[in-house]
Amino acid sequence: MTTPADIQFHQAEPGQIATLDGKISVLVAPDGAMDALARKLNTLSKGALQRLAQSESFENLDEGEGRVLAFPAGLAAEAVQVVKLPKRPDVLLARKAGAAMARFQDGACALHVLAGNHRQASEISYGLALTAYRFGAHKSAETPPLGKVVFHVNHPEETAAAAHGHAALTEGVFFTRDLVNEPANILTTLDFAARLAAMQELGLEVTILEEGDLDALGMGALLGVGQGSEAPSRVVVMEWKGGGDEAPLALVGKGVVFDTGGISIKPAGGMEEMTMDMGGAAVVSGVMRALALRRARANVVGVVGLVENMPDGRAQRPGDVVKSMKGDTIEVINTDAEGRLVLADILWYAQQKFAPAAIVDLATLTGAIIVGLGHENAGVFSNDDALCAAFLKAATAEGEGAWRMPMGAAYDKLLKSRIADMQNVGGRPAGSITAAQFLRRFVKDETPWIHLDIAGVALLKKDSDLAPKGATGWGVRALDRLIRDRFES
Ligand code: BES
Ligand code: MN
Ligand code: ZN
Repeated sequence: MTTPADIQFHQAEPGQIATLDGKISVLVAPDGAMDALARKLNTLSKGALQRLAQSESFENLDEGEGRVLAFPAGLAAEAVQVVKLPKRPDVLLARKAGAAMARFQDGACALHVLAGNHRQASEISYGLALTAYRFGAHKSAETPPLGKVVFHVNHPEETAAAAHGHAALTEGVFFTRDLVNEPANILTTLDFAARLAAMQELGLEVTILEEGDLDALGMGALLGVGQGSEAPSRVVVMEWKGGGDEAPLALVGKGVVFDTGGISIKPAGGMEEMTMDMGGAAVVSGVMRALALRRARANVVGVVGLVENMPDGRAQRPGDVVKSMKGDTIEVINTDAEGRLVLADILWYAQQKFAPAAIVDLATLTGAIIVGLGHENAGVFSNDDALCAAFLKAATAEGEGAWRMPMGAAYDKLLKSRIADMQNVGGRPAGSITAAQFLRRFVKDETPWIHLDIAGVALLKKDSDLAPKGATGWGVRALDRLIRDRFES
C-alpha cells in the first residue's frame, strides 16, 4: 500500500529556524499578523516576509494558499512558502492550507511547517497527509519517497495525539485510492479478495464466498455478470465488531474490476477508465480499514461483489433472464447495466445474513449521474430522510460533494419487462434514478438505505482539493464521520 508521508511533531525553537534544511512553510494571517516563529523568520530574512505580507500579491491570494520566496537571504532553507491562514480557520480551510504545503513540498527534501501554537495544526497536517499521495507502483524509474515533514509546534505531544486520530483515515483513503488506481490485469477479482483477506491482521473478520457458495445462495444475477470472464467471481464480507450487541451498519460495494460492457460492449474510446468500476467496493474496503485501525466502537459489516464483465463465449447475452437471490427474475436487456445486477444480490444477502440497522451502498453505477452532477457531487438516493440528512451533513463537514436525487413509483414503472419480473434498464431518461429504483427493489421497506452513485467522483482527471489527479477516495471520510455521528457509542 502507498504509505502516508512521515509527519513528525517537534518542539518549536525560534533559534533553529536559520539552520533548517529543505523547505519551510510559515503561516501569516490575512491581516498580516505573524506569530513568534514567523516574526523570527521575518527578522532572519531581513523583512522579506513582512514585505510579502504587505504586497498586492498576498492580498490577492486566496485563504489557504501560499506564495513562495526562493533562496531567501539569512536562511539555510532553499525556499519559504508563506501560507495565508486566519488564526481560527474552519477545519476545511486548515486542511486546504495543508494541501498547499503538500504541493509545495512535492519531492524528496524535508518540509518544515512552522505552526507554533496554531489551533488547527493537526488539521493542517491531515490536509497535507491526504494530498501527499503518489501512486508509483508501475513507474520503473523509482520515484524517491517524499521527504519527511516536521511540524514545529508549541505543544508537540498534544498535536501529535490529535493527528494520530487522522492517521487511520489517511490510511483508509490511501487503501481506497490504490485499489481504484490499480489496473485490471493486476487487480483481478482474486487479487482484490486477497488484499481484503490480508486485513484480518487488523482484527477484521474476513470471509470469502466462492462461486459454489454464491450458486448455493442463489445469486444468479451476480454470477451472470461474471460468467463471461476467466476471473472467478467472489463476494467478500468484512466484519468489524467494535460495538455491543446492536445490529450492524452494512456497507455494500460494486466491485466490477473491469467493465467492458459485456456483449453490449462499450466503445473503445475511454474504455480504459473502466478499471475504476470497482470504486464502490474500494470505498467500502477503505472505510473498513480505517474503522479497524482506529478501533471504532461500532458494528459495521462490509460486503463487496467482485466480478469482471467480459464478453466471451459463455458471456451472458442481451435478453437472457437471470434469477436473483431474492427470487425475482430479471431480463438482462443490456449487459452493460451490470452493476445493479451485482448489487441486487449482495444487497439481499447483506439483509438476510446480517439484518442490518441500515445499509449504504456505493457504486460507479451510471454515466447518467455524470451528465447530471458532473464531477463535483455524488448522487444520493434514499428511502429514509433522517439517515439521508445525516449522511449529507457528514459529507458537507468533510467537503465531499453529495447531492440528493429524487425517487418515485413513476420511475419504477420504466423497469417493467414483458417476460420477467423486471428488466435491468429503464431507457435513457433519468438513467441514474431508474438504476436506483432497480436497487430499491432489493431493499426491504423497513431497512433505512442510501445508494451513492459515485461514477463522477471516484476518479478525476484533474487535481482536486485533497488529492492529486486519479483516484480520490471520495466517501471514506464522509462515511467514517456518519459512523461516528450515528452508529458509534
Ligand atoms: N460502470 C458503468 C458506469 C460508469 C460510466 C462509471 C462512466 C464510470 C464512468 C456502468 O456499468 C454502465 O455501463 N452503465 C450504463 C448503464 C446503461 C447501459 C443503462 C451507462 O451508464 O451507460
Ligand atoms: Mn457497465
Ligand atoms: Zn459498470
